[in-house]
Amino acid sequence: MTDAMFSPAYLRDPHPALRALREDGPVHRVVLPNKLPAWVVVDHEAAKAVLADERVAKDYHRLGEIMSAKLEAAGGDPRLSALYRGNMLVMDPPDHTRLRKLLAKDFTSRRVEQLRPRVERLTADLLDAMPAHDEVDLVEHFAFPLPMTVICELLGVPEGGHARMRTWSQHLMGEAKPGDALTASEEITAYLTALIAEKRANPGDDLLSALTRASDDGDRLTEAELVGTCLLLVVAGHETTVGLIGSAAEWLVRDERTRARLVGDPALIPRAVDELLRLTSPVSLTTPRFTEAPVRVGGTTIPEGEVVLVSLPAANRDPARFDAPDTFDADRANSHLAFGHGVHFCIGAPLARLEGEIALRHLLARFPRYARAVPADDLRPRRSLTVTGWRSLPVVLDPAR
Ligand code: HEM
Repeated sequence: MTDAMFSPAYLRDPHPALRALREDGPVHRVVLPNKLPAWVVVDHEAAKAVLADERVAKDYHRLGEIMSAKLEAAGGDPRLSALYRGNMLVMDPPDHTRLRKLLAKDFTSRRVEQLRPRVERLTADLLDAMPAHDEVDLVEHFAFPLPMTVICELLGVPEGGHARMRTWSQHLMGEAKPGDALTASEEITAYLTALIAEKRANPGDDLLSALTRASDDGDRLTEAELVGTCLLLVVAGHETTVGLIGSAAEWLVRDERTRARLVGDPALIPRAVDELLRLTSPVSLTTPRFTEAPVRVGGTTIPEGEVVLVSLPAANRDPARFDAPDTFDADRANSHLAFGHGVHFCIGAPLARLEGEIALRHLLARFPRYARAVPADDLRPRRSLTVTGWRSLPVVLDPAR
């Protein structure tokens, strides 16, 4: 049954396979396509328990050893990309706490809120630049450039670097040939190291300059941690939000009633964004964790030294937690796990919500009747196991009546 979890059909729509898996129990042993044996948690309660359990850890030194050994034993490639070192997503407290606090000091809700006018402008400009009556790819020209430009501007990455960030990031997410992730790791690390040196020489009012000051101020952030933080922000700051905007736009093509409701009452859009996060889960598997001791969860004991992942789409449609889990309901009390749970809960959630809300509000106000330009079966999903969404979404924004 777990084979079905990573089939091409799963990439298009993971829910039939996940439903079957969940009906069979909350915790399963799987082998990932890169040959890594792991345990996957598929129900909401067990997912929350695992994500909050201190014995299910992340420290990248130990995680790297465990994953590389398992990959080697299974005949896979044991080398891990730069995403597996020097950033808070692969650290445990107290190092995690130190890095997260430093970032939170500069990446405040005030800084995010200050971005609002710029995000509104950028969104309007992107929609202006697209042809209204001809076919256009909503991922390529809208869902992707919006978050990519926002995160690059926030960090202070010059415009010339944006396109390269995209390629490196896609390679790091495992969407290219195996081995490309390692080349991308080296290239993006070199690029960010040079950029940091430049910010030291000529600081601006961007986040990277602020973080550089934090690293110079009393040895609280090493150079490797600074580069790691930056790399994490670039990748996490756009890949996921591209998925959200593309999947939300596609959902509203199929769900005419919801679209009409949102067009008629835009004040509902912020709540709708959270419901669409629940339904589309842009992150499909959390980053890997490992058990520091045997951990009993969902009636299963996972032995020590095992890799554990949580399927967020499965948890987010668990019927034990959500009534009519496959149906849009903006009024439900939403306790989705799309941004994770516990100490690694997404630090970018306010920015992601802001971008999702503005993108949908402008799209629906300007082009309330946008239509898919190809049959649903012709849409191509992303080939990543970590992030979901469409590689392209051909639409006609303003179809003739
Ligand atoms: C962590 C989802 C947008 C930065 C996470 C995690 C999830 C997630 C599930 C936890 C992963 C785990 O525990 O293994 C999302 C979704 C987004 C989004 C669905 C958009 C719809 C963003 C944005 C940024 C960002 C816009 C930055 C600007 C981060 C960072 C972490 C993180 C730095 C690591 C936090 C930590 O380890 O303490 N995100 N994210 N994310 N996210 Fe996001």
